[in-house]
Amino acid sequence: MPERVDYDRVARGYDRRYVEHEYDGILRALDRLTGPDQAVLEVGCGTGQWIAHLRTRGCRAVGVEPSLEMLRRAADKNPDAHLVRGRAEQLPFGADRFDRVVVVNALHHFEQPTAFAAEALRVLRPGGRVMVLGLAPDHGSEDWFIYRYFPRTLELDRARYPSPGQIQTWLGAAGFEACSAGPGHAIRYRKSAREVLDTGALTPDSTSQLSLLDDDEFEAGVARIRSAAQRDPALALGADLRLPATYGTKPD
Ligand SMILES: C[S@@+](CC[C@H](N)C(=O)[O-])C[C@H]1O[C@@H](n2cnc3c(N)ncnc32)[C@H](O)[C@@H]1O
Repeated sequence: MPERVDYDRVARGYDRRYVEHEYDGILRALDRLTGPDQAVLEVGCGTGQWIAHLRTRGCRAVGVEPSLEMLRRAADKNPDAHLVRGRAEQLPFGADRFDRVVVVNALHHFEQPTAFAAEALRVLRPGGRVMVLGLAPDHGSEDWFIYRYFPRTLELDRARYPSPGQIQTWLGAAGFEACSAGPGHAIRYRKSAREVLDTGALTPDSTSQLSLLDDDEFEAGVARIRSAAQRDPALALGADLRLPATYGTKPD
């Protein structure tokens, strides 16, 4: 079993990604799935980025999250939102309560994804839909400087991220119907290695992948980037990653 990410530790630097990168694919996927006045539960809501977006769309958005530090940031961003400490495997809500359940970049952290699938079915009203959106780094086409310079992160990610096919199997086994997968979000960027090194943007808590490495592994990766940047001062660091979305519907 791969190591677990300590989100109380990651929380401080977590929202940097939302300043540095655009997440238009996630916003579009949320907008396609949800509508005004719908009760939408985000499981593993983290710092509440998507809760804030859902609320601007007029959804009655509710977040559930086990990390106190992440939850505290979610509450700062969404002062009057309904945010609850809890886990995907035992959702602290009654049956038939939500129109939509969404999970963004979190399913791979759930200890029992099959228990989550059963819980999502329970809390959704008949006809309600679940969407699970997240990285699927198992196709051999993933390209990210983190994977290249810190190679154990790819090994760990391939072990911890389920494929869309696996997620559909879990949803189907729980009782969801019309399970399907499609495009969600794509992460694409390039920035100068010099800038990344000079601004100190690369820290162990800047992504959950790096937080799983020990200090020596982290420093060895940074040293690899430094020496590559010395050989090639124009070196660019980038990403080209896919985050598919997987869906299921609770039978009427
Ligand atoms: C990568 S963050 C994603 C946060 C948010 N959904 C976003 O996209 O910004 C993963 C989140 O899943 C949460 N998590 C971990 N285990 C969980 C569980 N068993 N049930 C619910 N959430 C969990 C973590 O605490 C963390 O906040």
